[in-house]
Amino acid sequence: MTVSIEADRNRALLRWYEAQGRDLPWRLTTDPYPILVSEVMLQQTQVDRVVRHFTRFMARFPTVEALSAAQFADVLRVWSGLGYNSRARRLLDAARVIAAKGWPTDVDGLGQLPGVGPYTAAAVASFALGERVAAVDTNSRRVLSRWHGEPLKGAGLDAAAAADLDEDAASWNQAVMDLGATICLPRAPRCDVCPVSTWCAGPDVYEPPRPQPRFDGSLRQIRGAVVRALVAGTSTLDDLVDTTGFAKPAVAKALDGLSQDGLVTAEGATYRLTQ
Ligand code: ADE
Repeated sequence: MTVSIEADRNRALLRWYEAQGRDLPWRLTTDPYPILVSEVMLQQTQVDRVVRHFTRFMARFPTVEALSAAQFADVLRVWSGLGYNSRARRLLDAARVIAAKGWPTDVDGLGQLPGVGPYTAAAVASFALGERVAAVDTNSRRVLSRWHGEPLKGAGLDAAAAADLDEDAASWNQAVMDLGATICLPRAPRCDVCPVSTWCAGPDVYEPPRPQPRFDGSLRQIRGAVVRALVAGTSTLDDLVDTTGFAKPAVAKALDGLSQDGLVTAEGATYRLTQ
């Protein structure tokens, strides 16, 4: 018996996820710590690369207490290769808050942790705490926009996600992400093999994302090089210019930004990673 479009669609979606969902290491647990680590890594990095780093990171820092006691330079050594080092800084700060005060008990509390935005808070709340909240990332936004036949964002996106969300929010969130990552692709969606095409307005409404900015010559590249140089120890501006090979004004600008973001501390003429 048909109850609603959402119920039928979710039944088909969750059956598909059960059979075809990706086998990812952070899905084997409801422990909030590995889930938080994976979600912070996944904020700006592709799944394949995260899988390799996640396993290494968990072996080195197996508990939130172990991470909280670490030096930032040690965290960066294990983070190396994931990029966007501010995430490692915020994750370390979050671990220190959790080690001191305990784990937040709901999505709002998780959202107060350093580096945890609404998406990451909802993901951890649903996967680890079993809270019934939708975690909508870029892939999920595309999927929901196509289901609804309009490019959703803001309050409209939140309302659509809340209306569509299954009772089993954890499975639904993962299933929508997997559908977006493997079938409901941005440019060449595979609607012929989609388990929920019956309940979808089709792929046309979606606007593809704008291309990523260039990495070569970017401030992000220079920041990464400066951080790698600082992992070895303290340094002066001139040392950093020599080691990185970038021009002095560019290195100074990178250091400024890194200091503002809490990654680097200046002591007189030398710079070091904030502990
Ligand atoms: N992207 C962000 N979170 C994810 C997750 N838990 N599984 C797969 N891809 C993701």
